[in-house]
Amino acid sequence: MPVAPKATLLNRPVAAAVIGCGGMGRHHIQALATLPAVQLVGISDIFAPNLERGGNEVNLPAAQRYLDYNQLLDEAKPDFVVIATQAPQHAELTIAAAQRGIHVLCEKPLALNLVEADSMVAACEANGVLLATNHLRRVTPASTTGRNMIAAGAIGEILAVDIHDKGGRPVGNTLMEMATHYFDEARFLLSHYVQSDGHRADEVEWLFSRLTTGLGAAAHPATATEIVNSQVAKPTDRDCGLVVGERGTVVIGLAGGVQAVARFHNLPHADARYDGVDVIGTKGALGVRGGMVKHLFQRQGHTFADHDRWNPVTIEGYDAYFAQTDGPASHYLCQQMALELIAAIEEGRQHVASGYEGIMSLELLMATYQSHIANAPVTLPLVERRHPLELWKQGVLA
Ligand SMILES: NC(=O)c1ccc[n+]([C@@H]2O[C@H](COP(=O)([O-])OP(=O)(O)OC[C@H]3O[C@@H](n4cnc5c(N)ncnc54)[C@H](O)[C@@H]3O)[C@@H](O)[C@H]2O)c1
Repeated sequence: MPVAPKATLLNRPVAAAVIGCGGMGRHHIQALATLPAVQLVGISDIFAPNLERGGNEVNLPAAQRYLDYNQLLDEAKPDFVVIATQAPQHAELTIAAAQRGIHVLCEKPLALNLVEADSMVAACEANGVLLATNHLRRVTPASTTGRNMIAAGAIGEILAVDIHDKGGRPVGNTLMEMATHYFDEARFLLSHYVQSDGHRADEVEWLFSRLTTGLGAAAHPATATEIVNSQVAKPTDRDCGLVVGERGTVVIGLAGGVQAVARFHNLPHADARYDGVDVIGTKGALGVRGGMVKHLFQRQGHTFADHDRWNPVTIEGYDAYFAQTDGPASHYLCQQMALELIAAIEEGRQHVASGYEGIMSLELLMATYQSHIANAPVTLPLVERRHPLELWKQGVLA
């Protein structure tokens, strides 16, 4: 599925900018620089070597490289901006762009807590701009094909969802860095399936969780005294705020009695082939697995018998696309996210990975902590918007 150039209402390429030129920012820069519908008008990073490397890789003129993001927004005047810094800066940068009437595609997790995320959505609403969350799985062919097959009844009536973590991180870090994807992907796969009572199957009703520290005799439920910053829990990781626990299980209650179960084992090494979501139905199951390049599998039954084995589902054009492109899968997916944003702006509708969907994922992460602290299920939407671990640490929650 080649990326087609797109005519726009503006009758000119859409002006785009990227703030944050680290690992993910460079994928966005390269994706946008090679997208005919878009003109990359500027990039920004406070760290000069990253700014230079990001700009050099696409031959961006020096005048379009900014150390100060405010200057970028004011001078380059992009129609939309990609925010690819780590989570602590997402709210400030999104609000700065929204206040200038600039649409935003923000990296995941949307923010560090729901207070920040709510303020991002409010700023975008108040200024009439769209907010999208870079949950790439919503434009991944394996996921969209899976969603359509589920909606068409390929696996019968939906019974349950199994979420598989790729490992390599303690549970707190995984929640903020990876479960934001997993929870969103699970809801996305169900999003076109309508329950017999008329409810969309991606509606979340409640969540129950248990996080633990230690194994064997040392094992215990994670405690408030074990709350640390993510980079203390795992020094090589990104800053995603407060975290707690090593392993955990989360059960999400969805509309129509469907339960999604996510288990976080803190496997010693990450393996993207394990990463994915299985949707279980009365007539079999569909599973989406893999890192950036995802694959879709189907099985007809639920036993280990030969006829119930997982089989790959061929997605027309998908493998051919990756065979012919030079760019990695992330470039293709970042381009799809940008094209979807342009289409949403033109059509006056929400992005498939809207800020509202981003908030829902963050809400599930915060609900995971709330439920663990309360040792009870919590209902959604959450009334308390402050970070549960901050409140637990302060002794406000017990
Ligand atoms: N969607 C995905 O699949 C995916 C994959 C990987 C990472 N991510 C997300 O992308 C984000 C960035 O991750 P990363 O690994 O690229 O981080 P990184 O640390 O490599 O890059 C972040 C960059 O932002 C810059 N920065 C910080 N504050 C800034 C500011 N005020 N103005 C301009 N630049 C600023 C830093 O100097 C750094 O170069 C994170 O939120 C991460 O979770 C998403």
